[in-house]
Amino acid sequence: MKQLKFKNNDTIDCIGLGTWKSPPEEVTQAVITALEAGYRHIDAAAIYQNEPALGKAFKTVFNKGDIKREEVFVTSKLWNDSHRAQDVQPALEKTLRDLNLDYLDLYLMHWPVAFKPGVTHAQGADEYASLNEIPLIETWKAMEALKEKGLVKHIGVSNFSIKKLEDLIDKATITPEMNQVELHPLLQQDKLMEYCESKNILVTAYSPLGSGDRSEAMKAENEPKMMELEAVKILANKHNCTSAQILISWHLQRGNTVIPKSTNPKRIQENIEAAKVQLDKDDMNTLKRLDRHFRYVTGEFFNCPEKGYENVYDE
Ligand code: A2P
Repeated sequence: MKQLKFKNNDTIDCIGLGTWKSPPEEVTQAVITALEAGYRHIDAAAIYQNEPALGKAFKTVFNKGDIKREEVFVTSKLWNDSHRAQDVQPALEKTLRDLNLDYLDLYLMHWPVAFKPGVTHAQGADEYASLNEIPLIETWKAMEALKEKGLVKHIGVSNFSIKKLEDLIDKATITPEMNQVELHPLLQQDKLMEYCESKNILVTAYSPLGSGDRSEAMKAENEPKMMELEAVKILANKHNCTSAQILISWHLQRGNTVIPKSTNPKRIQENIEAAKVQLDKDDMNTLKRLDRHFRYVTGEFFNCPEKGYENVYDE
């Protein structure tokens, strides 16, 4: 499996298992299946509300002993309601308890958006905290402390624009080591990718298959189905593989990591086997032409002008 390297030479497999939208009653088996199929990179988050179910899988697999904790790269994410300095470590400790782990490989600030403590999904302005009240650098400094204490090996962010990264890097001691963002052929994010490369920030792609299992409320009318695009189907035919494998393989050529979500054993296996698909220059050019800055995750659900939140991606 292709890997990317952090500055200290730690590595992360380019294909990981995504767990956003994975129901707790399915995700334990999905993680076990994935680890047995060769996945060594699992992506989690407190807000996915399934970390205890992932924890059951880790306990089962690591107790069995064939796969060791150190062989698996585990990421989780700090939720928006725990951005105050004093809330960051307790949030991580809860995630570690839920996951049955004593350290994370990577901890990400999930969104550049702060909620009041205890708020899962802010409904009104009174449930948000502005970035004047809780600046991103306050949260980041607390995350730096987690790394210094060895509770997490690496720290990074998610859903950060170039502008927000620049501002954070300006004030930070540790440059974020990862930015996890929506990324696929319809949203190729070339400028962000270039910027991250220039700062030695690795990139992870979420929603690589178009996240068709999002709630209806999160979906736009007539949104494109990436796996059904003619260009993608033609390439799948050419390489004798599936559309999903074409979409996953694209990331390996581009040099970022990718976390397709599945709880289906056959598709979990299929997705890691995308590593065997070798797209050539012509294929990459075909996919390049699909770019149209289309987001499945618009971020509009975080619009709260009264608290200074609008246009979370700064575009
Ligand atoms: P399932 O979990 O039933 O396999 P994303 O990773 O972009 O969030 O997309 C996840 C969605 O894509 C889920 O609905 C998931 O369904 C589906 N999916 C995952 N892998 C494949 C695959 N290889 N072929 C078709 N659909 C897939």
